[in-house]
Amino acid sequence: MTQTCLHLGQTLWFDGDPFANGIETARHETRGAVLVENGVIHAVGPAADLRSAYPWVEVEDHKDGLIVAGFVDAHAHYPQTGIIASWGKRLIDWLNSYTFPEEMRFGDRAYADEIAGRYLDFLLANGTTSVCSFCTIHPASVDAFFSAAADRNMRVFGGKTCMDRNAPDGLRDTAKSAYDDSRRLLEHWHDRGRASYVITPRFSPTSTPEQLETLGTLWAENPDCLMQTHLSEQTDEIAWVKGLYPQARDYLDTYEAYGLLGEKGLYGHAIHLEDREKNQLKDVGASLIHCPTSNTFIGSGLFDMAGLKSAGQQVGLATDTGGGSSFSMLRSMAAAYEIGQLRGTPLHAAELIWLATAGSARALHQHHRIGNLGAGMEADFIVLDLASTPEIAQRSTRAQEIWEALFPTIMMGDDRAISATYVAGRKVNG
Ligand code: GUN
Ligand code: ZN
Repeated sequence: MTQTCLHLGQTLWFDGDPFANGIETARHETRGAVLVENGVIHAVGPAADLRSAYPWVEVEDHKDGLIVAGFVDAHAHYPQTGIIASWGKRLIDWLNSYTFPEEMRFGDRAYADEIAGRYLDFLLANGTTSVCSFCTIHPASVDAFFSAAADRNMRVFGGKTCMDRNAPDGLRDTAKSAYDDSRRLLEHWHDRGRASYVITPRFSPTSTPEQLETLGTLWAENPDCLMQTHLSEQTDEIAWVKGLYPQARDYLDTYEAYGLLGEKGLYGHAIHLEDREKNQLKDVGASLIHCPTSNTFIGSGLFDMAGLKSAGQQVGLATDTGGGSSFSMLRSMAAAYEIGQLRGTPLHAAELIWLATAGSARALHQHHRIGNLGAGMEADFIVLDLASTPEIAQRSTRAQEIWEALFPTIMMGDDRAISATYVAGRKVNG
């Protein structure tokens, strides 16, 4: 049976990248409409036009609610849900003290199922409809993630985290088992429903060159897959990488040398980049993933959004849960704004909301189906309440235009600002 619904409210979508083309690429309709049929958006336009074109269609009126694409979190670690907001460590200590002991538990499928379900429900409550997540070294953690996402019909991206050194007993694979397990999981999950498999070496310090090489081979054999890893997050980490790979020209070269630099590569953090690294990343069209709440929480540094975007780099936005201190992309936008301010380059509200939706979708090479409102796009969208608390309401009520109305929610909003979340046209929260 055909399921058609006309959603009315304020609407906001993008014709292009506001960093490159200006904020005029954002399209806002005070009284707009989104026509959804069988999980796909069929039309977006003024409410009056779509109502008269489709007079027979069921209507859901979100009043002043702002309908935007569901958020796309381009880098997260769902297994770190239970250790989010752990105090006082920097990256390497934080991994050893909090992260690795928790990740050890994911060989237990029941535990992995529990956390995967909990995590995805947190995302939906926070308006995030798609995520690209690391799992753990355990294949069961990957099965749990994709199964929980399939239960919720979410478009997700993820893969087995590979580590064969500098991790504790019980949390290491080998070069061969990383290849074999990743390949088996890829063959099972990639393009199954709304799942995409992502080849996932954690980062150079926890892989031998042999392991990076086998994963480079797997990527060459499966070039339509994404590959995700970490790059140049903290200065101590970079010094460690230089010691482990003395022949490498820089951190990126440890990936490049083993076939792990490419257009479909996602490089988390990318804060302390050298010029050669920037040039290489730009030349291949790789994606840099900005994780602002993580960068402040673990004390990593200030990502150069303005410089990298004006140089034409692809950039996505992410929580990096649980190094990041929030599950919310609103909070991530706020932190990106604050980091921009500390660098003397504040981001516009249009740039922030674009990064959290179409920009992250572009970074994941998914902009043809998620991250925006438009005919043919999958109907993953949310309704934002721009007056979700008295504190926000008393500010947004003074607004003269949409950006002034939206910015207080970006800076002060949380899950209470998400009036509703729709996945493939179906309401799943709110
Ligand atoms: N680098 C390698 N692993 C991790 C991780 O789990 N979180 C963060 N923030 N950085 C990493
Ligand atoms: Zn990460």
